[in-house]
Amino acid sequence: MIVLFGATGDLARRKLLPGLFSLAQAGLLPARYRIVGSARSALTDDQFRQHAKDAVAEFGLAKPAGEAWHEFAGSLSFGAATPEDPQPLLDAVAAAEKAIGGRPRRLFHLAVPPQGFPPTIGMLGGTGLASSDARVIVEKPFGTDVASARALNDTIHAAFGESQVFRIDHFLGKESVDNILALRFANGLFEPIWNRDHISHVQIDVPETIGIEGRAGFFEQTGTFRDMIVTHLLQVLGFVAMEPPTALAAKQLRDETTKVFEAMPPLDATHVVRGQYRGFRHEPGVDPGSQTETFVAARVEVDNWRWSGVPFYLRSGKSLGQQRQVVTLGLKQPALRMFALDPDANVTPSNKLVIDFDDPGWIAARMLAKEPGAAMRLGEATMTFRYADSFCTQHALAGYERLLLDAMLGNQSLFTRADGIERLWEVSAPVLDDPPPVQPYDPGSWGPDSVYQLISPHHWYLPDSP
Ligand code: BG6
Repeated sequence: MIVLFGATGDLARRKLLPGLFSLAQAGLLPARYRIVGSARSALTDDQFRQHAKDAVAEFGLAKPAGEAWHEFAGSLSFGAATPEDPQPLLDAVAAAEKAIGGRPRRLFHLAVPPQGFPPTIGMLGGTGLASSDARVIVEKPFGTDVASARALNDTIHAAFGESQVFRIDHFLGKESVDNILALRFANGLFEPIWNRDHISHVQIDVPETIGIEGRAGFFEQTGTFRDMIVTHLLQVLGFVAMEPPTALAAKQLRDETTKVFEAMPPLDATHVVRGQYRGFRHEPGVDPGSQTETFVAARVEVDNWRWSGVPFYLRSGKSLGQQRQVVTLGLKQPALRMFALDPDANVTPSNKLVIDFDDPGWIAARMLAKEPGAAMRLGEATMTFRYADSFCTQHALAGYERLLLDAMLGNQSLFTRADGIERLWEVSAPVLDDPPPVQPYDPGSWGPDSVYQLISPHHWYLPDSP
């Protein structure tokens, strides 16, 4: 039995309700299940079903029609809850559990703004809904700094054991992010060069063309550093940089990502660029003097035997030139003297391994090859793996679908652990305590010009799909 807090909110509408329907359609939900929506304001069951139908129609791949929809809609009910008056929710949960029969396991999804986490968890503990086998999915951002993340962990642990807690980061549910583990550890080709001896730098680049999309309230308080860097990009970095885990199980995987975070020295604020797109301050609901960043580029280090001296460059922002999600590993330049490279030829002399993790995703190795002809002239060539052409992608699950399913199955592998997230806030402290000033940039650009100095002598590299 799933209880979805924030059931009338943006995330539920865009991702969770469509995702749950898609899991139901694929036959991946339990044979007997119920989904109870909850929010502060009261809706009738029918109003909630209509709300879900509109959400699936707008954002789902599968449209809400036919027997599948009829069955799914029949599983939906609604119970309003406030910390002062949880009774309608308790009634709805009791009715849903009775309909399922037996003693179904409860899964609570807290798709509410961060300030809503503590009171909701307190209510789950206080009412006894947080039973000993219940599970709770906690949305991001998980805290706003190390103190608030610790306090939130304490609040959660007062009601739930760590094995019941699923801190969600939907980037870790993306097929192509998960595929980084397969690429690295299932092949003999890449792992031997995956280190400081061969790699000069790593880029994790997530530019977005969208602005804040009416989320002024959330965004003003959060900003790109908390919304994207601590949350998504550093988690992807954990997968790119980790040592081989002894098993692909929750403990081993999370031990390894946490070790990466522990090896990261605190961020140097002089290696961080904060930007704000021109026009942001005129968005409805945004303070005209706002200092919130809509763009961040940062240089991060991982000071261990594998990565010492290899800079990791992260970049993400709103209203940028393209919508992309890309990891690039730049390889060190080999000795090319024998080839007498033409300085005017437009070739990049170092190889690149590019992992595009925007679903469905592709991986490309950029290399040099001989151009046909009598002379030894080098040109750029590409070896490509494309998910869309290589596998039956209709079985692919979107990030949220995959993670909702994992939480139902009790698999914490792709969820962040208390110590890992606390460490990320700890290394972020210098930027949070003394943030560099925001620099304006034009919508449709690549951020403030200082991002080019940040990455120098390397260059931001964002090739088109090969
Ligand atoms: C969310 C952020 O977590 O991720 C958004 O709050 C961002 O600001 C989004 O746009 C990007 O995710 P996706 O689904 O496009 O990969």
